[in-house]
Amino acid sequence: MKGIVLAGGSGSRLAPLTNTTSKQLLPVYDKPMIYYPLSTLVDLGIRDILIISTPRDLPNIETLFGDGSHFGLNLQYREQEKPNGIAECFVIAKDFVDEPVALVLGDNIFVLENELPELRRIASQTLDSAHILLCPVKDPERFGVADCAEDGKVVRLVEKPKVPTSNLASVGLYFYPADVVKYAAELKPSTRGELEITDLNNVYLSEGRLRALRMSEKSKWLDAGTPDSLLESSVMMAAEY
Ligand code: G1P
Repeated sequence: MKGIVLAGGSGSRLAPLTNTTSKQLLPVYDKPMIYYPLSTLVDLGIRDILIISTPRDLPNIETLFGDGSHFGLNLQYREQEKPNGIAECFVIAKDFVDEPVALVLGDNIFVLENELPELRRIASQTLDSAHILLCPVKDPERFGVADCAEDGKVVRLVEKPKVPTSNLASVGLYFYPADVVKYAAELKPSTRGELEITDLNNVYLSEGRLRALRMSEKSKWLDAGTPDSLLESSVMMAAEY
C-alpha cells in the first residue's frame, strides 16, 4: 500500500499563525505537525508516500523531509494549487496511485492502540472496499459524521451536519482500493465548492464497499486545525513521551 499526506488548505481557522506558513508546519509539542500524520502511515508499514501541499508551502516541507531516504522512506511531492477539497488529492495523485492507498490528513494527530494490528493488516492487503475510522466526539458538527442504523451499521456520511444525528466523526485516515482515482475524477464540487471526501466515501457506501471501524477508547485522535485543538495536541503528545 502507498500513502498520501494531504497538507493543503489555507489554515484560516489558525490565522494569523498561518499567514506566513503552513498549518501543518506549526509546532505540535516538539515537532512540526506534519511529522505525526507521516509517522502514522510509517507505523502501518507504508514507505512510498506522496506529500501534497500548497505551492507556497511545499518547498518548506520538501526542505524538512527531502527524499525521505534518511528515514527509510521514498517521498514524493506534488502541489494542490487551490484548496479544492480533500478528494482532489486523488485527482492530483492519479499516476501515483497504482495500488491501494492510505490517505492521512496533515493536521490529524493519532495515538493508535488496539486497532493497530487490524490497520496494519488492511495496509498490507489488496483492498476491495474503502475503510474509514470513526471516533466519538463532543463536537460532531465540525466533522464528517456517520449516520448509523439501529444495528450500528453506517447508512450515510454527512459532512459537517448542522444537526448531527450521531457523535461519530469520520477521522482523517482513510484506506482505498486503487479505483479511488476513477471515483474521485467523477465527483462534483459541493455547495462550498470542494471535492468532498465524504461524497467519495458515500460512493463506496452506496456500492456496499465501505467498511467503518470504530476507534478503541484507549486510542486518541485530534484534528489540530483550531487554536484550542492545536494546544490540546501539544499537551497530548507531550504526555506520550
Ligand atoms: C475534514 C473532512 C471531514 C473529517 C475531518 C477530519 O474536515 O472534510 O469529513 O471529519 O477532515 O479531520 P476539514 O478539515 O475540512 O474541516
